[in-house]
Amino acid sequence: VLDGLRHLEYRGYDSAGLAVLDRAGELQVRREVGKLANLSRLVDEAPVEGQIAIGHTRWATHGPPTQFNAHPHVSGGGLLAVVQNGIVENYHALRERLIGEGYVFTSDTDTEVIAHLVHLYYQNGSHGDLVDATRRALGDLRGPSAVVVVCRDHPDKLVAARLGNAGGVAVGYGEGEMLIASDIPALAPHTRRIAYLDDRQMAVLTANGADYFTLDGEPLVKDASRLEWDADAVDRGEFHHFMQKEIFEQGRSLTDTLRGRLDFVGGQVRLDSLNLSAEQVRTLEKITIVACGTSYFAGLVGKFLVERLARLPVEVDYASEFRYRQPIVNPQQLVLAITQSGETVDTLAALEEARRRGARTAAIVNATGSQAARVCDGIIAMQAGPEIGVASTKAFTASVVDLCLFALYMAQARGAVDETARRELLDALVRLPGQVGELLAEARQGDHYARLAARFGEFSNFLYLGRGIHYPIALEGALKLKEISYIHAEGYPAGEMKHGPIALIDGQTPTLVIAPRDSIYEKMVSQVEQVRARGGAVLAVAHAEDAQMRQLADAILPIPVTHELLTPVLSVIPLQILAYEVALHRGADVDQPRNLAKSVTVE
Ligand code: F6R
Repeated sequence: VLDGLRHLEYRGYDSAGLAVLDRAGELQVRREVGKLANLSRLVDEAPVEGQIAIGHTRWATHGPPTQFNAHPHVSGGGLLAVVQNGIVENYHALRERLIGEGYVFTSDTDTEVIAHLVHLYYQNGSHGDLVDATRRALGDLRGPSAVVVVCRDHPDKLVAARLGNAGGVAVGYGEGEMLIASDIPALAPHTRRIAYLDDRQMAVLTANGADYFTLDGEPLVKDASRLEWDADAVDRGEFHHFMQKEIFEQGRSLTDTLRGRLDFVGGQVRLDSLNLSAEQVRTLEKITIVACGTSYFAGLVGKFLVERLARLPVEVDYASEFRYRQPIVNPQQLVLAITQSGETVDTLAALEEARRRGARTAAIVNATGSQAARVCDGIIAMQAGPEIGVASTKAFTASVVDLCLFALYMAQARGAVDETARRELLDALVRLPGQVGELLAEARQGDHYARLAARFGEFSNFLYLGRGIHYPIALEGALKLKEISYIHAEGYPAGEMKHGPIALIDGQTPTLVIAPRDSIYEKMVSQVEQVRARGGAVLAVAHAEDAQMRQLADAILPIPVTHELLTPVLSVIPLQILAYEVALHRGADVDQPRNLAKSVTVE
């Protein structure tokens, strides 16, 4: 269990705990604040042995990160223990009710409510049937929850259930053992066979298998699917951090992203799993992209690609805004989610809202066993492999390449792009992974980025500027810097500088510009001149052989030349490496940045 939790550390947490049914049949609980190493130490000091156990890393929502608030939560004087992902929205009312029933609360959490509720039903109504008691308890909860229950009276069983979008629940089939986890990296070292719980489903695990039911008690048949990841995909290998590994993997991940999707003879793009025929494409009037964070910025690049190539209007919305905005959506619209994890609560809610309003839905998604992959009418699987570093890197570049394929697919169905233009882009796409590989090999050889980090890593504010298709890259570069190095960085469209942000420029605010030689290059040059004139330092992502920019800027972050529409895939990579090196320089915890979780499964 500890090892499984270690593989889930990237999700972010502030305390951890486990409960083991020991050889004497007693539930032993160990909980500790802070990193898993603290819990491990506790377990070393007071070891416990058993055949069945649950564990959890908690990211505080109700109550501060203390030992008492850490999961598992116990009820009935050690009769049963519960771990939960999610939020009990009606927790106050349930807590009052349970206090009325005589329960004494020992934590501030909403999870403890679930433990006592299961206990209440176990004793009254369910007559010692743990599965029934769990089902009834979940029936009282509002809000998304994924729970696992272990009980002293049932030493051969784990009961798990999923209610709403509370993050994944994956059941792993081992050799003479069964496992359950909220994400694949915890299971991958043990098994390749995995089944997933959907909303309102439960699983009852014994050492030899699992039975599945709906939360209404109907039996379900579920087939395990085969995990395609390599077991070593969830290890850091020779790298110091997962983020570093994932940055340097991007040549490979983009090769995988393109594999099988380009038909050179016919010059066509194939996206079979999108489930969208050419005829259906022709009925579409608009595309709405919904996503959060880095995936949202990929969506902004997607708007350029689809509008330019397919001549179809695209709106890009934060999923968290879309879901509450009473959006105007109709059946002639495709709502396309972009999500690495496929479990981001706002993105799932936005998809639900779109479906409710009659739109077709699709997702560009990395975790193909996730909820987003299951609920959409069609998907484009990213093929980036597991992304563990909290700061998203290879999923961003894979999303952008997938969006390019999507745009080409739309364009070919609508007859919107001529043969020569399509060929040019396809040729550039094929060369792209190799160029990414070269860029990365060069960055790895020298100490250019480490030196930049030493030179610029002490500033407190950065401005990132880009224009056109590079504007989302300015946003993404700034996000990378702020989330892992805690430096305030703002991304801005370069043309907006004069409308306000130029007031920020002084010797203490370096500006990073994205300035490849393209149709708006001259405008970026004049932008750089203006920053320099005000005493600001300039770092420029520019073509390696751009002598003019080399002279103008204080430092160059070089990229190779590609098709203008694919430049974002190259220009973001130096910004990922820079953010990584600056975080290292400042001694920040790159893979587990403060306050952040990998998948945001609660609002
Ligand atoms: C930033 C980052 C987040 C995610 C966002 C959406 O580096 O990783 O901003 O991009 O939480 O996550 P997914 O793509 O899993 O829906």
